[in-house]
Amino acid sequence: MPKKIVIVGGHGNVSLRLARILGPSHSVTSIIRTPAHEDDIKAASATPLLLSLEESPVTDFTKAFHGADVVYFSAGAGGKGGEERTKSVDYEGALKVFDAIEAVEGVRPRLILVSAIDVRDPEKIPAHYTEEDKALATRVRGHIAAYMKWKYEADKNLVKRDAFKWTMLRPGGLNNEPGTGKASIGRTHLSPTISRDDVATALAMLLEREDAAGLAIDIVGGDTPIAEGLDAMIKKGETDFLG
Ligand SMILES: NC(=O)c1ccc[n+]([C@@H]2O[C@H](COP(=O)([O-])OP(=O)(O)OC[C@H]3O[C@@H](n4cnc5c(N)ncnc54)[C@H](OP(=O)(O)O)[C@@H]3O)[C@@H](O)[C@H]2O)c1
Repeated sequence: MPKKIVIVGGHGNVSLRLARILGPSHSVTSIIRTPAHEDDIKAASATPLLLSLEESPVTDFTKAFHGADVVYFSAGAGGKGGEERTKSVDYEGALKVFDAIEAVEGVRPRLILVSAIDVRDPEKIPAHYTEEDKALATRVRGHIAAYMKWKYEADKNLVKRDAFKWTMLRPGGLNNEPGTGKASIGRTHLSPTISRDDVATALAMLLEREDAAGLAIDIVGGDTPIAEGLDAMIKKGETDFLG
């Protein structure tokens, strides 16, 4: 059945791919902050809606989410504007979306949030990490400390909420190679990178997976068909967000 979908961060590299997959068979509204992006959204079979995570009030987002089945959050400052902007988009912007969903009257949409692999308490190293994972984790934290910190704060906030259903997808490093339809999913390692096409495919598949509620799902490049990997992870029911 066609669903009503809102994508926050609609002109992002992953979001545009997602709109191209879902737009033809569902009703997709893509939230963007730049009027010049409207034509790209329409070309992806979605409807543009102008709102800014930094400037627009939470009530505008609530209005946009009213009647939606699923809200995707795939926005981010992308390292532009220093830590202040990372905090206001990746953390405060995410909380604005969580609050806006909570304020929807009647049936609230599910949230599918794009986070990132290895977002966690830096002191708690997951038991399955290899020496290579640990070295990569240290290197990444050295390069993008503010990003990891504010994503962690947003995710900690989300996992405490139970007023709406949510699922997190936590990709490793992204690349722009053509998708393979395959990945390594759940309690995986931190590499190799994954194609944005494949992340969009996984996000689109999560549309029909209400049973993924409450799960954070790690995904990196790999050899398992994405539907199969997601299904195994969801059936196992062990979240990858370890606090
Ligand atoms: N890059 C990686 O290797 C990596 C790894 C793991 C996870 N992730 C996460 O994956 C997600 C998607 O990645 P991506 O490559 O698609 O990111 P992207 O292309 O940078 O897209 C992010 C989108 O967020 C939008 N945005 C920024 N500030 C906004 C605001 N104030 N209000 C509304 N929208 C705003 C941007 O709009 P404008 O186009 O107007 O700037 C942009 O379209 C992000 O959440 C990222 O953190 C990335």
